[in-house]
Amino acid sequence: MTLSDKRILLIVGGGIAAYKALDLIRRLRERGARVRCVMTRAAQEFVTPLSVGALSADHVFTDLFDRQDEHDIGHIRLSREADLIVVAPATADLMAKMANGHADDLASTVLMATDKRVLIAPAMNPRMWSHPATRRNLETLKGDGVALVGPGRGEMAESGEVGDGRMAEPLEIVAAVEGMLDGRLKPLAGKRIVVTSGPTHEPIDPVRYIANRSSGKQGHAIAAALAALGADVHLVSGPVNISDPAGVGTVHVETARQMRDAVEALLPADAAIFVAAVADWRTADSAGEKIKKVKGEGPPALQMVENPDILATVGHHEKRPALVIGFAAETENLLANAQAKLDRKGADLIVANDVSHGSGIGPGGVMGGDRNRVRIVSRSGVEEWPEMAKGDVADKLAALVAERLSGRAGSGQ
Ligand SMILES: Cc1cc2nc3c(=O)[nH]c(=O)nc-3n(C[C@H](O)[C@H](O)[C@H](O)COP(=O)(O)O)c2cc1C
Repeated sequence: MTLSDKRILLIVGGGIAAYKALDLIRRLRERGARVRCVMTRAAQEFVTPLSVGALSADHVFTDLFDRQDEHDIGHIRLSREADLIVVAPATADLMAKMANGHADDLASTVLMATDKRVLIAPAMNPRMWSHPATRRNLETLKGDGVALVGPGRGEMAESGEVGDGRMAEPLEIVAAVEGMLDGRLKPLAGKRIVVTSGPTHEPIDPVRYIANRSSGKQGHAIAAALAALGADVHLVSGPVNISDPAGVGTVHVETARQMRDAVEALLPADAAIFVAAVADWRTADSAGEKIKKVKGEGPPALQMVENPDILATVGHHEKRPALVIGFAAETENLLANAQAKLDRKGADLIVANDVSHGSGIGPGGVMGGDRNRVRIVSRSGVEEWPEMAKGDVADKLAALVAERLSGRAGSGQ
């Protein structure tokens, strides 16, 4: 039984999908979990504490000010005596409360008082899901390390409307719970890993900047894959248009110098992976005012200076992590350049990807696209990985990091 002796505190919110919580309780218990339930007042409009109690075979907690419950177990113990808290369905209202630190009923107070990980399964009308307030709350919750399962796309139970917002099916939620609680799947538990991702923006003046085509998709996917293996991941991200990965602490920066400072502040770490496409150069002086186009004067001459080399800085740092991995985006002489980089920068591995137009990878190419083909260059040789989705590259690289940090493979140093 995959969840033997695991204690799940299930918080049932007041949405139409509350009926699916009954099946979820059954599925979790089938796998050996002990399920204790808290229901919001609204949840009791949809399913009764009697049904929830019968399926969980336990007392159901509904009231923060119930003197008997508070005497018997108390809301603080309730929030701590669990291996994981699951909120299903997570209503728009519960998400807003969680994101803003409200504690005005038993469910929200338990969520504020807990020291355990929290998994939410949102369920709501598509308009509520896409509302800017819910988007903001979701980003806040992700930043707080709250894990998410679903929602999916489908027909809404009550209205026949179709769209995003349908709660994940009970078995999907069970799989997410198993993923979060199975220690065997967490080979990076206790490892602190710093990852950089995205481009940097180097200002020319207050409105213009030098940038590159990096989307952050590969770096963010790697951060998420490492977190899924249990690592304590700190992501330093340049300006990107994608969400921060769940369960990862993210620091947002703009320039190469800010990225270097943020990375150094996060050391010591067990590993550092430099995926960001850091600008090699910046302008010597960023103009304080917008540079004007003056008739007859021609274009301004931009004086460039070199940016700090973050990989080399950390590769030779007094707090150098045991494992340092750099990415080399090259358009020519891929392997020769990657091998030279390995030595020069004090890295253990270089992940070399060909970002040239001739790389054969679909529209948009590697930078900004969804697929990647990489070679892993170490001092002992080169391993070619076939073309795959960036998420798959991330999973494979996270597994390699786990292998290296567990000492099952030499560091190459
Ligand atoms: C029939 C009906 C269905 C509802 N379904 C949802 C839903 O699926 N998701 C949601 O966020 N709110 C839904 N609501 C609104 C919530 O019940 C309401 O926001 C409530 O305050 C949530 O309380 P809670 O977050 O404490 O459980 C529904 C309301 C009604 C009357």
